[in-house]
Order: sequence, then structure tokens, then C-alpha cells
Amino acid sequence: MAKNLPPTYDKIAKHDVFPETTHDERARYNFLANLNKHLAHVSQGNATAFKNRVQPKFMEEKGRDFENKDELGDAMAKDQHYQTWSALRRCTMEMRQQAGRSLTYRQAAELKEKVNKLNQGKDSLKLNDEVKVPPYLMAVDNHLMPGSYHTELFEGDVSNAANYDGGLFVTTAGLLGRYSDGGGKAMADWMKANNPDFKPKRILDIGCGIGHNTLPIAKMYPDAEVIGIDTGRPMLSYGHARAMSLGYENVKFVQAEASKLPFEDESFDWIQTTMFLHETGGVSIYNIMKEIHRCLKPNGITMHIEQPQYTDDMSMYEKWIRDWDAYNNSEPYWSKMHDIDPIDLLEKSGFDREQFMQIGAQAINDLDDGTQKADEPEDHGRSPIWNVFGAWKK
Ligand SMILES: C[S@@+](CC[C@H](N)C(=O)[O-])C[C@H]1O[C@@H](n2cnc3c(N)ncnc32)[C@H](O)[C@@H]1O
Repeated sequence: MAKNLPPTYDKIAKHDVFPETTHDERARYNFLANLNKHLAHVSQGNATAFKNRVQPKFMEEKGRDFENKDELGDAMAKDQHYQTWSALRRCTMEMRQQAGRSLTYRQAAELKEKVNKLNQGKDSLKLNDEVKVPPYLMAVDNHLMPGSYHTELFEGDVSNAANYDGGLFVTTAGLLGRYSDGGGKAMADWMKANNPDFKPKRILDIGCGIGHNTLPIAKMYPDAEVIGIDTGRPMLSYGHARAMSLGYENVKFVQAEASKLPFEDESFDWIQTTMFLHETGGVSIYNIMKEIHRCLKPNGITMHIEQPQYTDDMSMYEKWIRDWDAYNNSEPYWSKMHDIDPIDLLEKSGFDREQFMQIGAQAINDLDDGTQKADEPEDHGRSPIWNVFGAWKK
């Protein structure tokens, strides 16, 4: 049996609002998932190029080592191996968006209809036209997704959300599992295993998107009321319909902005974010964390899943290669967020420094049939092995 290839797209779990695909569209997704996985291997050559060519040349010319990431990046940008890898990686993102857009646009009207049918008459979806998408989110097409999370091409259009749902398989080469929910599953499992006496009644997932990682938490805690908030109206409408079609009864989707949470003080036991903080602007992240502190009950917990934070013992090269998405994949807040000291962030938001915790989490991938090798090279910035940090509120 072939080893180490991504799973095929037909293994992805479907639900009633999942976009339909033709044979050729699935073939395109499979090709791109494989190309992404292959490029993670090609990326190993960047480290070699840096060590054997770029750094020695710079030191010979300047008589010193790199002083900052900008200098390092300028020198690497002249290296042919890096140029090739970077151009191809950018192309996979552009092609992935193109592939997802074309297939969701052709069925945009049907998708809207299916979503409306499932959402009709349900009070677990609360949309609010007064909620403003923050300027930092409006300013970019996040990870090259035209129109980002909030754009509707016509009233009630959910095609961007459907594109996000189906296409995540490509970006992550299928490593997040059948429902692209490997992060939420890992989080829910960790919480249950490490805090068996914790019985949350109310859980908030901020920046829930279409609820990929909200639902595993709702499943683990069926007696809890789980609320996902987001500013993206299409994400919430589609996410709610998806949750309905999958039979969830304890989840609500609410349109709200994270730095102005429409909830009372001390009203949640657990506030979660997953792959969210890196998309928030520099000042907003502090405002959001203060809101989290305000809305958490005493003895409540907040946890945040992200790619690894940059630490003093991480090499300049590693920080720079991890920054690739910031400069090439329309993730402008990525570097700043990963440079923040999470203890400082939590402390400035009202949490006790002593309560800080940090764990490693790996996506629980129910698509892995045992043929994936554990020692696969890391695809910097995309790996489903995360840093999770947070704190209890005392
Ligand atoms: C990368 S997606 C992650 C979605 C989801 N947490 C997941 O794990 O699949 C980030 C989401 O955060 C939302 N978002 C960004 N800034 C926000 C804010 N200030 N308030 C509410 N939602 C926000 C975006 O609309 C987007 O849906």
C-alpha cells in the first residue's frame, strides 16, 4: 500500500450543505493536497540552503551574522531553492481558492436554499446586522480567500463558507480528519482527561467560523450550552445549517464581535478560541482577551489553539520560515501574534500569571488509516500539531 500520501477527498464526511463536487473537481483537490504534502518535503531544502549557502555567503560579505528576520529574508529571497518552493506554495493556495470558488459558485443558489431550509424557524441562529466586521478583518483576503469570511455576493450567499469547509482538506492535506475537526477533538479530549471534575454548563467558542472545532466540544459536553460567535454572517448561517444537519441540539451560532461580547460578566465556564488569535490585529488581541476575562466565571478556563509561539530559544531562521504565511498568504497579523508573550497577554487581561498553562496538542485525525508516518517533515505554519495556551480564572 502507498505510504504517506494524503487521504483522498472522497473520504471526507459529507453533510446536507456540503458542496457537491464532480470527478474533475475532486481530482483537482486531490492533486493540490498531494502537492501541498510534497512541498512540506521540499521545504526541508530551505534549511539546507540557509545553512550551506545563504548564511555563509552573508557572513563572508558582511563579516557578521544576520541581525534580524528582514535581513535573513532578503538574503533567502535570492536563493533559487527558496524561490521555487515559495512560488509553488503560493500557487497551491491560489489554485485551492480558485478550485473551491468555481465549484461553490456554480451551486451558490442551491447552497443558499439548503442552508435556509435547515435554519428556518430555529432560534439557535442569531444574526445581527448591527455587528461590524472589524477593519483589520475587512482589510485582507485572509489566506487568499477573496472576500474573506464576511462577503456575500448576493443576499444570503454562503459560497465562501462552503468553500472554506470543503477546501480545508486541501490546505491541510487531509490531516484534520473527516469533519476537519481534529483540533476541537484534541481540545475536548484534553479537557475531559485532565479535568474530569470540570462540568461546564456554558461554553463560548470565539471566532467559531463554520463550527468545525465547536462541534466536538458540544459533543463531549452534551449537557452544556455551547455558543459559537463570529462576525462572518455566511460562516454562521452555513455553520448552523451544518450543525443542524449533523444533529446537534446544544449549539448556538451568534453574530458578535470578539472585543464587544454581548454577554454578561462571569457568564461562561469555558471560553475557547481555535486558530483565531493569529487573525486578530495587534491591539485587538488585548481587547479580546480582556473581554474573555470579563465573561469568564471564577474557576472558569480559557484555552487558545495556535501554531507554536516564537520563543527566545527558537532560531531566527525558524521564526522567519514560520512567518511565510504573513508575507505570502495574506496573514498579516501572524508574525506579531506569534511574537507576543502569552503570559504577558493573559496577565495584562486580568489573569494570574501563576495560572498560565501551555500544552502541545495534535489533531485527532480519523482519516489516518495508519499509513501516515509519524516522522513526516513539518509544514511550517500548517502543521496540525499546535501550541495551546490558557489559564484558569481565579
Ligand atoms: C481561521 S478562522 C477559524 C475558525 C474556527 N475557529 C476553526 O477552528 O475552524 C477565524 C474566524 O474568526 C473570525 N473572526 C476574526 N476576527 C473576529 C472578531 N473580532 N470577532 C468575531 N469573529 C472574528 C473570522 O470571521 C473567522 O471565521
